[in-house]
Amino acid sequence: MLKDRYGNPASTKSEAAMAKYNEALDLIRLYRGDPIAALDDAIAADPDFGGAWAARAGLLVQQTDKAYADEAAKSIRAGAEANLNDRERLHLRAAQDWAEGRYSDGTMRLARIAQEHPRDVLALQYAHVGCFFLGMQSELRDWPLQALRAFKSGEDGYSYIQGMAAFGLEECGDYARADIYGRQAVATNPRDGWAVHAVAHVNEMRGDLEAGIPWLADNAQHWAPESGFAYHNWWHLGLLYLDQGDTAKVLKLFDEKVRPDPNAQVVLEWIDASAMLWRLHLEGVDVGPRFEQLATCWQRAGEDAFYAFNDLHAIMAFLGAGRATDAERTLKAMRRAAADGGDNAYMTRKVGLPLAEAFIAFEAGRYDECVEKIMSTRGIAQRFGGSHAQRDILTLTALHAALRGGLASTAEAIAAERLAHKPQSPWAGRLARQARELSAKQRAA
Ligand SMILES: [Fe+2]
Repeated sequence: MLKDRYGNPASTKSEAAMAKYNEALDLIRLYRGDPIAALDDAIAADPDFGGAWAARAGLLVQQTDKAYADEAAKSIRAGAEANLNDRERLHLRAAQDWAEGRYSDGTMRLARIAQEHPRDVLALQYAHVGCFFLGMQSELRDWPLQALRAFKSGEDGYSYIQGMAAFGLEECGDYARADIYGRQAVATNPRDGWAVHAVAHVNEMRGDLEAGIPWLADNAQHWAPESGFAYHNWWHLGLLYLDQGDTAKVLKLFDEKVRPDPNAQVVLEWIDASAMLWRLHLEGVDVGPRFEQLATCWQRAGEDAFYAFNDLHAIMAFLGAGRATDAERTLKAMRRAAADGGDNAYMTRKVGLPLAEAFIAFEAGRYDECVEKIMSTRGIAQRFGGSHAQRDILTLTALHAALRGGLASTAEAIAAERLAHKPQSPWAGRLARQARELSAKQRAA
């Protein structure tokens, strides 16, 4: 019986298939290269290797893009007819849960695999990604911490689990330990973009530009090449430049690194692009044709209502491009999705819809409504996934709505909160000043 690189028994007897599968495991954990191609090679070497089919299905369903649904279904069908051991069968069932909209069940199933087979780094990573999409912050932290027990420091796999733990610790507010774990993981493997990202989040949450900018800018030669995740770490660097107030640098980075190909069809990239352009839009920066280019991409997914977090970001692009009708179309699709079953219906109902309405209200100048809807949703917004740094767009939008709508006290309150969290952040300082000026103006009137 062959075992994978971490020692998990696999259903193939083909050495060639196992070599390609192990290569895929390496690419998946590093978010590098083309792991689907490596899995396809493994399957070509042994078409009955059910574990490879399950890994393929798992990767595809977690792209949160309906465009991959057929390919994922094909992998699930082929996997069901192939050889599977018990662990691989659970992987396949988890992918099926995801494919059928039961994200929470699928994530829990993966986590249980990782608990029972703590050397199954793939199960842990897929569970970790699931937690991210579901906003399960404690589990982002705790499941990697559970798995560390099965690895010795320095052993293949250990640092990747440290990187996952670092991100979970950060999302739970334990910045000091997140920083230690993340830096240790990067010291072991500087190409580990996820661990680099965990430390980037620590710097972002602290508003620490002095540590944050060099952490990303000076190490990019390690984490960026061949990385399928680089656009997101570049996005984080863009946030820090925006914090500095250097919008020219942000736009340059956007064009060269976040969206080097304005037509690239990667939904996760579109999310970052929407999020960056919307922040610039709030700051009153002219972003030229970028919103329009992005809206054209979102068009094909605008009515998928596949995942509420994506839908809100599609709406940002449509609104920024002046395409109010498209934004309304996405809103209607979300209303339909909210009435369906599955986890996305809940996420849409409780979080996505009120936020979509809030952003539409912002663009229409209905600032009171915008603030009300964001403030009443923000406390549970993690339930539609994303990170604190991504969901910061809610707070920023509410604050700008309060500033534009003359809601001086609300603006001062939100700005004070921001400054308390990020005392070193120039952006937090600027926003607090704007809120104070609005208040003073109103008192003088
Ligand atoms: Fe991030």
